[in-house]
Amino acid sequence: MQRVAIVDPTESTRESLRTLLLGVDFVWLDNECARYEYFPDVIRTALPDLVVVALDADKTRALQLIGQLAAEHPKLPILTISHDHQALLQSLQKGAKYFLTHPVGLQDMLAALRRALGEHGTADPAMPGPVARQTGTAAVTAVLGSRGGVGTTTLAVNLAATLAADPENAAALIDLDLALGDADIALEVTGFENISIADLAANIERLDMNFLRRAMAKHEPTGLSILRHPLEVAQVGVIHEQHVERIVNLLKLSYTHLVLDLSKGLLPTDLMALRMADHILLVAQLELSSLRNVVRLVHCLSGEEDLAEKVRVVINRQGADTVEEGISLKKAEEVIGKPIFWQVPNEPKAVIGARVSGHPLIKHAPKSRVQQSIHGLAAALFGKPAAGPDRGSKGWGLFGKR
Ligand SMILES: Nc1ncnc2c1ncn2[C@@H]1O[C@H](COP(=O)(O)OP(=O)(O)O)[C@@H](O)[C@H]1O
Ligand SMILES: [Mg+2]
Repeated sequence: MQRVAIVDPTESTRESLRTLLLGVDFVWLDNECARYEYFPDVIRTALPDLVVVALDADKTRALQLIGQLAAEHPKLPILTISHDHQALLQSLQKGAKYFLTHPVGLQDMLAALRRALGEHGTADPAMPGPVARQTGTAAVTAVLGSRGGVGTTTLAVNLAATLAADPENAAALIDLDLALGDADIALEVTGFENISIADLAANIERLDMNFLRRAMAKHEPTGLSILRHPLEVAQVGVIHEQHVERIVNLLKLSYTHLVLDLSKGLLPTDLMALRMADHILLVAQLELSSLRNVVRLVHCLSGEEDLAEKVRVVINRQGADTVEEGISLKKAEEVIGKPIFWQVPNEPKAVIGARVSGHPLIKHAPKSRVQQSIHGLAAALFGKPAAGPDRGSKGWGLFGKR
């Protein structure tokens, strides 16, 4: 997602420019400004990846502005728009790189944006500044259960909290179990504003970073942010897959890791989350109904390119009494036709204790085997050596007979 700021004193053309940009999914409209003279200040605090300057309201001022922007931010791509070819030419002389003639259609705009952002996206990465800044790079992990109660939310919350605990990360959990989600129970947050994903969906056209930030409740002890499920079950219907797409894309700008706790309904919103994910953790237990659903889900996801390859099967509650006789890991792998990526031990005291306390395991029971295992899972997924209490000890994270 690339941040774009526009300046156009004429309300009607600014409005249509805005509508046009809202239709471009790789662009985030960071700022709209109605005064040429304010624009340098407006963008100075958070430099966008590209600016669009409409010239026709006052060509002299607009051209002056372009000269100033080019001098202050030589790497910032400037796209100009006008009816007047002469003015467009002059804007190029002043330092604009790209132009479009009015009236601008979506196709022209798309082509110009792709060219402008594409060319600058390949700028020297060592060069500091707005165009070398990487945006929208958060890793997205979707956590999907193979049946109810299998530990999806437990893993999503604790994986996200483990990631958040690393000071180099900024992690957020998104509760996409829209009707019956309960991630907020495991993660007690205080001092939040009552904004849920339903409010974001209802305001999707006007959604800006400020509103989005206010919707993210923070669990202070870990630094993990959470976007909660709708407060009313009836609000579920207002949230569509496109909302999920846009919200996740926007959150990718502000975080390094996003963890999505999905529903068991394989709804369009869940499918969108699966498509957007870099990793899909499919949570199962060593028992028949769960394993059978793993097979069914993997089969279903294979229908769509790339989805099945992203699936990592995680066996939860390893060692529990509920593990059915005769189902070994090896047998499970045979049935699933995929290796088991990770195993998390059964440790009810720590898991239930954490949940009741409203704090993730990393705070409630940091030394528990289950937390160590989740720490290892985070390291296995994101390749960073995990600084857990058991660091370096042989085979941590893997519990069971492999
Ligand atoms: N590793 C584990 N050890 C012990 N209990 C667990 C473990 N993982 C989950 N549980 C328990 O299982 C129950 C269901 O977990 P939950 O995460 O809510 O599942 P889901 O989101 O898939 O419905 C919870 O009561 C939780 O405490
Ligand atoms: Mg759940």
